[in-house]
Amino acid sequence: MIVILLGPPGAGKGTQASALVKRLGFPHISTGDIFRANLDAGTPLGLEARGYMAAGELVPDDLVVRLVGDRLSKPDVREKGALLDGFPRTVAQAEALEGFLTAQKAAVDACVLLDVPDSALVERLSGRRVCRGCGQGWHVSFSPPPADLKCPRCGGPIYQRDDDSEATIKSRLGVYHDQTSPLADWYKSRGLLRVVDGQAPPEEVGAALAKLLA
Ligand code: AP5
Repeated sequence: MIVILLGPPGAGKGTQASALVKRLGFPHISTGDIFRANLDAGTPLGLEARGYMAAGELVPDDLVVRLVGDRLSKPDVREKGALLDGFPRTVAQAEALEGFLTAQKAAVDACVLLDVPDSALVERLSGRRVCRGCGQGWHVSFSPPPADLKCPRCGGPIYQRDDDSEATIKSRLGVYHDQTSPLADWYKSRGLLRVVDGQAPPEEVGAALAKLLA
């Protein structure tokens, strides 16, 4: 099964993806997480992506498509499918994905849009805190992190992502509306789009997703 989680920055893609892959048992492919891991490790890929991410812009399609194409060809994906989080983000990426999957005699089963208005997203992102070790997330108001900023799960440091500053959040939302939101119509025209209210509490969003993908 190949499922795409589509939605603006802060819609809850990462939050829901972590829970979903545990339940469904297939690989979680988050292009944002892959870039951040490469950035932390100082790899050439991380260095190439750094400037785009810091500015809230998209990393160029050719770089992302190569990265995801490589990941999709791995045996675990070919065997079990994948949950795609943060990819595709442009029509060119969606076309490339279609090409990869067709070559593997596979196809996208569903594209689920987590629908959340911009006003809620700014509050979510500016208050988000994340563990650098395992990616676990908190929110300073809704689910505050431990006072010592040490992750209770893995002991890693809890930090604020560089791109969660107010100026970069605005730029990321602009990029989403210009370049990524057209994908909702792209998948709708193929009969694959499902929409979930991402403003509901996380457990309710999770239950709605589980029902859709049952
Ligand atoms: P990426 O890491 O993919 O970031 P994003 O899409 O901006 O999404 P976020 O991770 O910010 O949000 P999310 O939807 O996962 O929300 P979360 O669950 O954390 O990409 C980062 C950058 O990498 C991009 O800007 C780009 O430069 C580059 N990049 C990545 N993929 C690319 C691609 N395909 N092409 C080109 N460039 C690419 O939740 C957010 C907060 O809300 C948390 O605090 C959480 O606790 C809270 N929350 C979650 N759900 C709820 C709820 N239901 N109610 C209340 N609060 C909630």
